[in-house]
Amino acid sequence: MNWLEMNIRFICLFFLSMRSAITTTQPTVTLKDGTVLQGIKEEFHSDLLPVHGEFGSFYGIPYAEPPIGALRFKPPLPRKQLESPFNAVKVGRSCMQPDPETHGVRLRNEERCEDCLFLDVIVPTHTPEKAHVFVMIHGGGFTIGAGQMAMVHFLTFAAYSNVIVVTFNYRLGPFGFLTTGDELIPGNLGLLDQQLALKWVNKNIAAFGGDPNKVTIAGFSAGSASVGFHTLSPGSKGLFQNAIMQSGSPIDSWVPNRQGKEAKLEVRTLAKLIGCSPEDIEDDSKLLSCLMEASADSILQNIGKVGQELGDPLFPVPGPNVDGVFLPKNASTIVEEENLNGENYIVGTNGDEGTLYLFLFFQDKEVTPVINSTLLPSILGTFIREVPDPIVVELIKTLYIVDPKDLVDGKRDDFFHEAAQYLADWFLMCSASKYARLTSATKNVYRYTMTFVPTNELLDIKWAGAGHGDEAQYVFGGVFQEKLLDRTTAEEKEMSRKALQYWTNFVKTGDPNTAGEGDNWSLPEWPKFTKENEIFKDLTPDMSNRYMKQRECYFIENVLPQLNDALKELANLKTNNDEKSKWTAEGQCLGESCHVETEEP
Ligand SMILES: *[C@@H]1O[C@H](CO)[C@@H](O)[C@H](O)[C@H]1NC(C)=O
Ligand SMILES: *[C@@H]1O[C@H](CO)[C@@H](O)[C@H](O)[C@H]1NC(C)=O
Ligand SMILES: *[C@@H]1O[C@H](CO)[C@@H](O)[C@H](O)[C@H]1NC(C)=O
Repeated sequence: MNWLEMNIRFICLFFLSMRSAITTTQPTVTLKDGTVLQGIKEEFHSDLLPVHGEFGSFYGIPYAEPPIGALRFKPPLPRKQLESPFNAVKVGRSCMQPDPETHGVRLRNEERCEDCLFLDVIVPTHTPEKAHVFVMIHGGGFTIGAGQMAMVHFLTFAAYSNVIVVTFNYRLGPFGFLTTGDELIPGNLGLLDQQLALKWVNKNIAAFGGDPNKVTIAGFSAGSASVGFHTLSPGSKGLFQNAIMQSGSPIDSWVPNRQGKEAKLEVRTLAKLIGCSPEDIEDDSKLLSCLMEASADSILQNIGKVGQELGDPLFPVPGPNVDGVFLPKNASTIVEEENLNGENYIVGTNGDEGTLYLFLFFQDKEVTPVINSTLLPSILGTFIREVPDPIVVELIKTLYIVDPKDLVDGKRDDFFHEAAQYLADWFLMCSASKYARLTSATKNVYRYTMTFVPTNELLDIKWAGAGHGDEAQYVFGGVFQEKLLDRTTAEEKEMSRKALQYWTNFVKTGDPNTAGEGDNWSLPEWPKFTKENEIFKDLTPDMSNRYMKQRECYFIENVLPQLNDALKELANLKTNNDEKSKWTAEGQCLGESCHVETEEP
C-alpha cells in the first residue's frame, strides 16, 4: 500500500446500473459557433420514486484541443470548431490512468489515452426555460476515473430534479498534475482542464436550454476537493453559483500539495526512470523535451515508481499545487482571506470516513480488524507519515475512547474505533469543518454528515460503517436504480427521497430548505453552519441535526500543533543537555555551550 493506491481508493463509484433505453429520433442542438450536435434519447423510469424521465443526451463532446504532442504538460486550449454535424452519441475516451478495474472501477469508455478531454450533457426533455445546470466533477484521487463510469449515471438525479447534468474528463496523474514547481511545468493542468470545461458550459449551455447563471458544481472525494479549488481560483470566478463538496476539501491533508524542491525532485526522478540521460536531467529545457518525447505508457508506468526510487513509499502522487495561475497562493491562505467564488456551499463528510484508511492497511472486507496498543501508533504513523509521540497516542486514546473503563482497566486492547475516527478527523472531517467555518463568514454554508450505516457499503467493506462515498446512493437516488432496488430497505428509499429533495432544492435555490418553482415538499429544517453554530444535517431516515467532533477538531487544529512543537523543543533541549553531560563525563569540549564555559575563567 502506498500513496498511489491510497489515493486511488478515493473513487467515485456507485454500485448502480443503467436502466435506460435508446430510441430512434436523434435530438439535436446548435452551438453558438454554428456546430450542430446530434445526440441520443434516453429514459429513466421508477414507479417507486416516482419519476419518469426522458432525456436528450450528448456524449463525447470535445471541449479542448487534444493535449498531445507539443500540448502535453501545457495548459488546455479551447477546442477549435468541430466538424458539423457532430455525432455526440458515444462516451469519449478516458484519460490515461492505471487500470482502474484493479480498484473496482469500470469506465464506460475503457479506452485510455492522452486525447481524452470530452464532456457530456444530459438534458431532460421537459425542462423549464433557462434550466438549472448541475456539473459533476468525478473523483479518483486525481489519478483514476472518468466523467462516465460504467456503474455511475445521473439519470435518476436529472429525472428527479429536472436539471441539466454535465460530466467530463480531465487529465489525471502525471498528465494532469506533474509539476516542476516553476514555469517549466507549472502544474494544475487537470484543474485547468476542469476550468475550461466550466467555461465551455458557461458559453454553450444556453443552446441546450440551460442558464449559465444557474450553475451548481458538485463532486466527491478528489472531485469534491476540486470543487473547493474552484471556490478559490480567480479563473473560476463567475462560472458557478453553488458548490457541493462531498468528502474532500482543498485544505485536507490527504490532498497533495507539491512544493518547489520536492516537485523538481519528483520530475527528475521520473525522467531518470524513463531513461533520460543524466545530462538531460540536469538541464531544464532538455529535461522537458525528454519528457515530451517519452511514451505516455512509460510516463504512467514510471510515475508509480518514483516513491520507491526515492526510498519513500508514501511519496504523494501528483496533485494540486500552488502554480501562481490556477492557484495564486496556498489554499489555506486563500480560504482565510475570504475572497471566494460562488454564493452557497454544501460541505459534507460521513461519520466513518476513516474506515477507508484501515481497509487500505488490512485489505480484508469481511473481518473487522483488531488494533492493539502496539499496532495503533504504527498505523497512525503509516498514514500521517510520522509515528506520533507516545504521549500523543495516549491523548488520542483519551479523547476518542467510547467507554473510559477500557482505558483504566486495560482489558480491551483494541482501538479500532479510535483509530478510524481519528484518521477520519485528521484527513477529512476537521479540515472540512475549518473550510466551512471560514467560508461561512461570507457564504451560505450547509454542512452535513451521514451517521446512518447503509445496507450496501460503497466498496462492500462489511465493517466500514457510514464510509467514504456512502451517501451518494441516497443523494443521487442510486437506491432507486436496478442494482440496489431490491437490496435496500423502504426506510433507505424514504431517506433517499428526502436527500434528493434537499439536493434538488439547493441546486435550484441555493438553499436546501427552499423548493424551486413547482416543487412542494416540506423537509426538516437544515440550518446554516456558522462560526457561532457549527451544526450539521445528519443524513438519516429522520434527517435530524447534530453537532460533530467539535472537541476532537479543536484538539487537531489548536492543541496538537502546539504539543508537537513543544515535544520537538523538548527533544532538542534533551539533545543539548546530553551533549553537555558528555563534555563533563569525558573531560573534553564537544558542545557549543561548553566553549563559553571554558573561555570564561
Ligand atoms: C500557506 O502560506 C502561509 C503564508 O505564506 C504559510 O504560513 C502556511 O504555512 C502555508 N500553509 C501551507 C499548508 O503550506
Ligand atoms: C498486536 O497486534 C499485532 C498484529 O496483529 C500482533 O502481532 C501482536 O502480537 C499484538 N500484540 C499484543 C500485545 O497483543
Ligand atoms: C404545499 O403543500 C401544502 C400541503 O402539503 C399546501 O398547504 C401548500 O399550499 C402547498 N404550497 C404550494 C406553494 O403549492
